[in-house]
Amino acid sequence: MLVSAKEMLTKAKAGHYAVGQFNINNLEWTKAILLTAQEMNSPVILGVSEGAGKYMCGYKTIVGMVNGMLENLKITVPVALHLDHGSYEGALACIEAGFSSVMFDGSHYPIEENIAKTTELVNLTTEKGISLEAEVGAIGGEEDGVVGAGECADPEECKQIADLGVTMLAAGIGNIHGKYPANWAGLSFETLAAVQEKTGAMPLVLHGGTGIPADQIKKAIDLGVSKINVNTECQLAFADATRKYIEAGKDLEGKGFDPRKLLAPGVEAIKATVREKIELFGSANKA
Ligand code: 13P
Repeated sequence: MLVSAKEMLTKAKAGHYAVGQFNINNLEWTKAILLTAQEMNSPVILGVSEGAGKYMCGYKTIVGMVNGMLENLKITVPVALHLDHGSYEGALACIEAGFSSVMFDGSHYPIEENIAKTTELVNLTTEKGISLEAEVGAIGGEEDGVVGAGECADPEECKQIADLGVTMLAAGIGNIHGKYPANWAGLSFETLAAVQEKTGAMPLVLHGGTGIPADQIKKAIDLGVSKINVNTECQLAFADATRKYIEAGKDLEGKGFDPRKLLAPGVEAIKATVREKIELFGSANKA
């Protein structure tokens, strides 16, 4: 059964580790992530962007697929199904469809509007026992065609949003989605420490997990990050393994063209990436 992300993140914050949010794109992705989390006895969050939601034929299809897998694969670790960077309407649609967690990304609105919309969703999600992530300070980079520069959130605004009663808070600390440019300045630990001081026990979320060096990840967890989002890194690992399979001509050998064979190396590559992240984030055996 899907669970809200509240309990797993409260435990992570108290235990000084982070739970990974791995974004899903299709059945193979979902299966690979669930099996790895189960194998490592780790809680896990499946992230779905609005674009990926459309691609997978809508939120109800996804809820059906994930619930079916939890039963069929005998998954017993805590799993949250979470809307990533949702619009207000997207959050409502996911709540209706059976997601156990949603993000409302109001970071591009003036703070007053972000507060007003987040407040409405706090009321709705609290009533339904669904976790809610809010965002202050836009995360840079490109995601689903939306491009932003890596901002640093205002700690006072973070406190205002945290005090509304959201479950977890994403604050921009110079992080961006996708690959980091060679001249990236790194995470702003000064901002993170200031946000942490203002928001206390609130689990903080680090977006753009792909390509952040391990020492910066560890320091971010020390400073209060309890949820880390990873998307691009699984995509790169999948594409690389699939390219190698094709370039080696394996699809031309026997029944190597069968999608169950063709996609298998990519699936193994996703599993290896997720395994590595769960180890780095410290959530193994915390289910
Ligand atoms: P990356 O694609 O950079 O790993 O970011 C994922 C993310 O933050 C999803 O919200």
